[in-house]
Amino acid sequence: MKKRDLRAAFYEAADEFLKDHKVIQMKNFIQHGNVTTYDHVRHVAECSYRMNHRFHLHANDFELIRGAILHDYFLYDWHTFGDGLHGYHHPARALKNAERDFGLSMREKNIISSHMWPLTLRSCPKCREAWIVCLADKICSTYETIRMRKGMA
Ligand SMILES: [Fe+2]
Ligand SMILES: [Fe+2]
Repeated sequence: MKKRDLRAAFYEAADEFLKDHKVIQMKNFIQHGNVTTYDHVRHVAECSYRMNHRFHLHANDFELIRGAILHDYFLYDWHTFGDGLHGYHHPARALKNAERDFGLSMREKNIISSHMWPLTLRSCPKCREAWIVCLADKICSTYETIRMRKGMA
């Protein structure tokens, strides 16, 4: 599939979930620079979807997209809240919130809990969907941080 077609296919698959009022709550929190958590998880979900199709990884699109969109569903401003260990603790918080607000599959739970691996050593990706999101999150976070440092975000 061509790059533009992949983008359209992603939005067709993800659109309904991206419009869920609970998911939209992530627009209230900043991730990096002026990128909201909502924009960040949208980037990670699109990147994960593209990787899945570009490299023929045969991950389940439905779980991949939902897990990617919920991977940072921690719902607080990490710049002003907590003990400075946001990196370690937020996957567990995101999982708790997501389990409360959505029915999750085992793969979706693993995507959320392991996305910071290897920082969270004991929460390791155990399915291809979780490996993809773990990598896509690092790619998107790096890209967003570089844009922020350059004053572009
Ligand atoms: Fe995260
Ligand atoms: Fe993230």
